[in-house]
Amino acid sequence: MSAAPDAARAAAGVAQYDAIAVPYQRSKESPIRRYLESHGFFALLGEVAGLAVLDLACGDGFYTRQLRQRGARQVLGVDISTAMIGLACRQLLPADTGLDYLVCDVQDLPDLGRFDVVTAAYLLHYARDVGELGRMCRSIARQLPPGGRLVAINENPDQPECRYAGYLRYGFSKSVASPRGEGSPITYAMISGRELFRFEVYHFERATYEAALAAAGFTDIRWQPLELDPQGLAVMGAEYWSEYLGNPPVVGLTARRAG
Ligand SMILES: C[S@@+](CC[C@H](N)C(=O)[O-])C[C@H]1O[C@@H](n2cnc3c(N)ncnc32)[C@H](O)[C@@H]1O
Repeated sequence: MSAAPDAARAAAGVAQYDAIAVPYQRSKESPIRRYLESHGFFALLGEVAGLAVLDLACGDGFYTRQLRQRGARQVLGVDISTAMIGLACRQLLPADTGLDYLVCDVQDLPDLGRFDVVTAAYLLHYARDVGELGRMCRSIARQLPPGGRLVAINENPDQPECRYAGYLRYGFSKSVASPRGEGSPITYAMISGRELFRFEVYHFERATYEAALAAAGFTDIRWQPLELDPQGLAVMGAEYWSEYLGNPPVVGLTARRAG
């Protein structure tokens, strides 16, 4: 684990997850995370055996570890929060030389060497304005060869603000000050066990994301719903999933670096 230069603009992002690292880690046990988010993420990603993967906004390494377990040759997890990377490092196996972590704001990432795939489960919507979004997209593009893939989970930019309510059964709420505009803060409040914690992400229109990705050199940009694990349907029942699937708060996002 190494530290990168910090910047004043990074302070809010660091503080957010330094304060909620442990409850956020626990929230990964919920049915949504297990049957929808994880299953959907790996369905979008496909086979990773033998690949070098850069896992951005890796948090406590929830996906980073799984990427390695699924056969990725080399996985580097990057996160802005020292507390989240601390949790990830505590779960490192000493003998595993194929998995490593770095504390860094994605906007400030140097060229780390080429990766086959960049994953970013919940990163781009932490950009607070179009300038930050552009810096993140350019940083990601720098890490990929022509044809290399970005696989992300992101805020659903097409969700109307009037449909943010309705997620209490899943253990969280989502709200935004109206009228929502470009860069409006969206607040998530989550219940994990007996703890309530909050964090903020930012709204951008689909066209804004696509313009930032295209300007950074990405092509083949696709927004795709996360696929539900059939086991989740069997365990929780169709009614449980109906609101989330009919009104997804987040979506899959994939793109390819132009050749
Ligand atoms: C919702 S968590 C997701 C963690 C992990 N990907 C997962 O799904 O379990 C979002 C993470 O993004 C990190 N983050 C936010 N802005 C960042 C930035 N500019 N650079 C790197 N990490 C960032 C936060 O510290 C936090 O750990």
